[in-house]
Amino acid sequence: MTEESTINYYNQESSQYSRKRYEGKTESYFQFLFRYRQNLFLNFVDRIASNMKNASVLEIGCADGVLIKSLLERWPNVFGSLIGVDISPMMIEEAIRTTKDSRVKYFLRGVEPGEKNDLVIELGVHSQNFDAEINSVSEKLKESGYFIYCVAGRSSLHARFKLLGVSYVNDYMSYAEYEKIIKKYFDVLSSEPYGLFIPKLWAFPRFAMVVQPILEKLFRNMFSNLFHEKIYLLRKKQ
Ligand SMILES: C[S@@+](CC[C@H](N)C(=O)[O-])C[C@H]1O[C@@H](n2cnc3c(N)ncnc32)[C@H](O)[C@@H]1O
Repeated sequence: MTEESTINYYNQESSQYSRKRYEGKTESYFQFLFRYRQNLFLNFVDRIASNMKNASVLEIGCADGVLIKSLLERWPNVFGSLIGVDISPMMIEEAIRTTKDSRVKYFLRGVEPGEKNDLVIELGVHSQNFDAEINSVSEKLKESGYFIYCVAGRSSLHARFKLLGVSYVNDYMSYAEYEKIIKKYFDVLSSEPYGLFIPKLWAFPRFAMVVQPILEKLFRNMFSNLFHEKIYLLRKKQ
């Protein structure tokens, strides 16, 4: 996907982004993946919440602000300021329209204020130049600041079955390759793979809702390379 086609796609998704992915019953693997990731993300924030009093937060690829809103719902009086940036103008409009908290501001990526942050979040954002992206996040963090990030793995079942022939998969790397770059800039405090795609499982959503989380927990250590994504809790190196 070129940047232009990504912007077009997310502009079109903007009015229904959260509804399709995060609201209502979980009926598909796609919805499972987004919600499971959101849960892991909130668990990571929980681990560092005691260091987040009045913290400044930057979210890259904030879409309609769904994760920022979930942070404020869970921790209404903790964060000092929150900035969301995205490349899709219509996502930014939607985020502004639907966020009612004066501590939150949204910008198109690249025109946000340049201050350094205590926490940067970047989830579900494809990067064509991984090293440059990680380096630029490190520049946006204060000393010992935290970064919650996820990547998609080249060998996952999802990539092999669902994304067969999709061009952006060529940018995916193995988790070991990602980690080699990550560790140049960050200490890895914790990580967890998620998204074990099992063909046809979600044809039976009520069954899948029970079985998928069990499979995730059973196989995440032994077969992490088969999982679609991995989320990291990182801390900027001194
Ligand atoms: C899959 S959504 C993830 C949104 C949210 N972080 C979540 O977890 O639900 C990807 C978002 O990142 C934005 N995006 C894609 N490439 C980006 C980039 N290079 N910089 C900033 N935002 C980007 C898209 O416009 C879209 O809103």
